[in-house]
Amino acid sequence: MAGSWHVPDGYGLVRLEDVDSTNAEAVRRANAGEAGPLWICAAQQTLGRGRQGRDWVSEPGNLYASLLLRLPLTGKSVTGLSFVAALAAFDAADAALAGADPGGVLSLKWPNDLMLDRVKTSGILLEAVSTGADTPAAVTCGIGMNVSHHPNIADYETTDLHTHGAVMVPGDVFTHLSKAFVQWFAVWDMGEGFTSIRREWLERAAGIGEDVRVKLPGEELTGTFIGLDDDGAMILRDAAGGEHRILAGDLFLGATAG
Ligand code: BTN
Repeated sequence: MAGSWHVPDGYGLVRLEDVDSTNAEAVRRANAGEAGPLWICAAQQTLGRGRQGRDWVSEPGNLYASLLLRLPLTGKSVTGLSFVAALAAFDAADAALAGADPGGVLSLKWPNDLMLDRVKTSGILLEAVSTGADTPAAVTCGIGMNVSHHPNIADYETTDLHTHGAVMVPGDVFTHLSKAFVQWFAVWDMGEGFTSIRREWLERAAGIGEDVRVKLPGEELTGTFIGLDDDGAMILRDAAGGEHRILAGDLFLGATAG
């Protein structure tokens, strides 16, 4: 696993050559009593998990990292953590692209994708861990970033950092990610700072004020992407002026999606 893999003080780090899924490994460790915070990274995953039950293709050369945390919070307030992770992924990619030729424009796509020139380069999967009666609740925040290559996905376009001229290896991208995560986690302040996180996320967001399409289980909505509510749900205004609050779905911006 190339690069220098560092975590801030107070965080643990486990590096694996291969694993089914770093999120699955985090769940196993939480169930075995791991208190965290613990980063679990793998050079490759054999059963990488994506959002909405999809697979996450996980060949060597990209970043696969999960952070196991125990938080004194309910499931609903934990969702803000995925915006924290998205901001950290943005900063890590930004560091990797510094001075890169041709580089590209980074943006965030609801709910928590990182886009490069509006094409997906990173995804985040937040999973609650049911550890029985013990509290605080455990959560794993999994981040996959296309560093040196990208998979061909039928449903949406993908890219990677090296295609845009970055040369940074996964370990160094991870070191930026883990550092940025701590900074945004402090801003989030166990949900008390969600308003600041939302503002920062919206400043980097793609598609605000644009006509978009959202795929939900069994239906599709079109309208203007207005913003996010206090729970991080997307607010969509349809052609008749009705407002929809969407907690989960796939957002399609123009021709791209993820
Ligand atoms: C998405 O579908 O956009 C989310 C992808 C999340 C992938 C990461 S890679 C590290 C962690 N382990 C997994 O199995 N999934 C997440």
